[in-house]
This record gives sequence, structure tokens and C-alpha cells, in this order.
Amino acid sequence: MAEEVTMEKIVSLAKRRGFIFQGSEIYGGLAGTWDYGPLGVALKNNIKNLWWKTFVEERDDMYGVDAAILMNEKVWEASGHTGAGFADPMIRDKKTGAQYRLDHLLEDNGIDPTGMNPAEMAKAVSENGIKSPEGNEWGETSLFNLMFETKVGAQGDQRSYLRPETAQGIFVNFKNVIDTMRPKLPFGIAQVGKAFRNEIAPRDFIFRTREFEQMEIEYFVHPEKWEDDFENLREAVWEWLTRLGLSSDNIREYEVPKDELAHYSKRTIDFEYNYPGKGFDELLGLAYRTDHDLVSHIKASGEKLVYTPLEGEPFVPHVIEPSFGVERALMAALADAYTEDEMNGEKRTVLKLKPELAPVKAAVFPLLKNKPELVTKAREVYTVLKKDIPHILWDDNGNVGKRYRRQDEIGTPYCVTIDFDTLEDNTVTVRDRDTGEQKRVATGALTQVVQVVQ
Ligand code: GAP
Repeated sequence: MAEEVTMEKIVSLAKRRGFIFQGSEIYGGLAGTWDYGPLGVALKNNIKNLWWKTFVEERDDMYGVDAAILMNEKVWEASGHTGAGFADPMIRDKKTGAQYRLDHLLEDNGIDPTGMNPAEMAKAVSENGIKSPEGNEWGETSLFNLMFETKVGAQGDQRSYLRPETAQGIFVNFKNVIDTMRPKLPFGIAQVGKAFRNEIAPRDFIFRTREFEQMEIEYFVHPEKWEDDFENLREAVWEWLTRLGLSSDNIREYEVPKDELAHYSKRTIDFEYNYPGKGFDELLGLAYRTDHDLVSHIKASGEKLVYTPLEGEPFVPHVIEPSFGVERALMAALADAYTEDEMNGEKRTVLKLKPELAPVKAAVFPLLKNKPELVTKAREVYTVLKKDIPHILWDDNGNVGKRYRRQDEIGTPYCVTIDFDTLEDNTVTVRDRDTGEQKRVATGALTQVVQVVQ
């Protein structure tokens, strides 16, 4: 029977095998930051590349950008991020001075804070007799803005922020893309990059962090056709989740109720993933943002951010935004792939990652490392293969069984063993990660057999 997959097991494997480490670990860490090791960065890059391929390269209606992380502070005033909309409501413990999130206090006490403003939340805390975790009375309430503020230049007189979403880098380049690429509506602008939020309670491994990456699209549509485009993007999101290797049983859509919608949104679907030990929680969002963003930037910048059709008057298009978190995609891909099973009577842990995502595509071994003729031949096979497929690993440590287990644990789809027959007939054994099936393959055909479409 399959063992239960827990987040602890995934975190432990991620650390043990060089996927993900605590940020600044040798100095005791920095809360809400994580570092990616050799296999983690490869997996992350594979996810981002697959996303870019799916949403930009394979389509005719998408344009990529890579905007600066530091932007003029006016961008964040126009977008509303400097205001209350991007701040968490806090309340202070009168005695210790520690601050707590009002909505979390209510949730922890079984009260749903949905739809309440900060004053109403504070009232609910007091009316329900909720004390601070230390048992003290409450002091004042405040709003805590999630943006990291910084100063630009030697004088330090220009305020800027580490961007809290990649989306605004797209909106401010709307006119540049229109003027240079002349796209036809509907079309999207896509961006992948870092985002930063001073989260009050970073938690659940890489689920909620202070530095993360987003893969976002702002898809510009005719205001009257938004419903069709929303449906098309919803389908495209499902296709992507399949390409990511996630089982559809672990995904569900959450139609955000009207009273919970962000002020700019007329409709939002959160795609939720069933994270081990956590249950269903947000993986990505699909939001209809109307013309809110472009209109805000038109007002603040004075620029004409409009689309001019071949026939007819210029108008401000509406926007549908699929917004993906790289870390959440990675966490879901790891969780879905993590399997404990038995092969040939032996227990093993295997990451059944989609081969396109696997950090290592194939491992090459000499059967015995103390036989120079096998090692020389194996090196030759390895070198030839590595020219075609860069993500190849050499392993001659321990016996072949141990090497298989090691490669299974990091999700390597194929193991190639060079044995004494290879010296005679130039064939090698190729072993499949998921089935354990082994077949003899001519060295000349190896690239084709282990080739994984990227
Ligand atoms: N532009 C819209 C936007 O940023 P969001 O729901 O705040 O919307 C979109 O974020 C996605 O970014 C989320 O669904 C999640 O995948 C990811 N994300 C947001 N905050 C995050 C955090 N603190 N840590 C990791 N991922 C985060």
C-alpha cells in the first residue's frame, strides 16, 4: 500500500538531495527566504521554460517582456499598492508591543473575517473576548503595507519599491508593445520574474515566502468579448497544469464570491492544489480585471494607453490576468511526483516528475568502477551523450541498485549502464524510472531513446 506523502518528507528530500535550502542558512536563516540548490534551480528553470513555451512560444497572440524590478514610485501609487488595498490590518499587544494580523486572529478563533474592514475586525476581536496569545489586552490597530521600500541613488532621495507583482511591469509597457509589435486584439503580454512581499506570516515551506517568482499574463480583450476569452484562458490553464504533471484530482477551481473579489476584479477563479498536510489552497489565479489598471495608469501618467482597431475608434481594452506562482507550481509538481513504492521487493522513494521537468534526464554508470575498460567505455558513452543532452549525470558510487535508488529519488527518467557486453557489441542497458523495465539499446541510438522533448 502506498505510504502517506507528507510535507515533512518532501522538505527533507528537497534539502537532502540539493533542491531547496533555507535562505542564509549558515547565519541562522532569514524568515520567508529559500535558496535553490543545483537540482532545485534546474527544476525551477524547467518549470519556467515550459510555462514560457506553453504560453508564449507556442502561441501567436502573446508577447514577452522583462521589465525592471525597480520602478518609478508613481507606478505603485497608480496601481493602488501604496494604499490600504495592499496592506494587512494589524493589532498590537498592549503589553509586549507585538503585532498580529487581525484577520488571522479571527480565523484562528473560528470567525470568518471576509468582507470586514479593519475597524470591524477589531470590533469582532473585542466582542468575542479574543485576547493576545500572551493573554494581554489589545492596543492600537494599524495597516502594514507589504511592499519593501528602498531608496534609489547616492542621495537616496528617490523612493522606490521591490515590485510586489510582475503585472505592473506589463501595464507600463502596454504602449511600447502596441507601438513596436502592432498586435491584434485579443493579445497578451507575458512576464516571468521576481516579486517581493513583506509577508507578516511566511509559512508552509515555499508556499508563502517574502521573495518569490511570478509568471503572469495580462491578456487584453474587447470589453464585450471578455467572457469568451476568460473561458479560453481557463482551458489553457488546465492544459498547462496537465503539462506540469499534476493529477486533476488534486486540483479544484474556487470561484471567488462577489463580496470577496479584489476591488478591480469582476470575476476571479482561484485554482487550488491539494498540498500534502495542508489541503486545498491557492496555486494560481485567473482574474477579469476590467479596464481598471490601464485607466488608472492613463489618469496618473497622462499617456494614451489605448488600442486602435483597423476600423473604428481607439478604446481602452479590458484585461484578463492568469497569474502563476513559480514556487507554488514547483511545490505542487514535487508533491504530485513524490511516490513511495516497492520495486523488486525493495522500498524506494521516487519522484515521478514529467521527464521534461526532471533536473537530470539520464545518469550514466560503468557497471564496476574498478574495471578500467568499463570506465573508459562508459566515459566515452557519457561524453557523446552529454553533447546532445546537457542534463546528464555521471555516477559510479556504490552498486548499481544503490545508484538506481539515488536517481529515482531525484526523478531521473533513465539510467544507462555500461557492462561487459557493451565492450563486445556496443549496446547498453537503459532502465526506466517508473516501470524499472530494462532494455538493451545500441549506443548509436541512445540519444534518441533518452531524448526528452524540452
Ligand atoms: N498580479 C496579481 C497577483 O499578484 P496574487 O494572487 O497576489 O495576484 C498571484 O498572486 C500568485 O502569485 C499566487 O496565486 C501565488 O501563486 C503567487 N504568490 C503570491 N504571493 C506569494 C507569496 N508570498 N509566496 C509565494 N507565492 C506567492
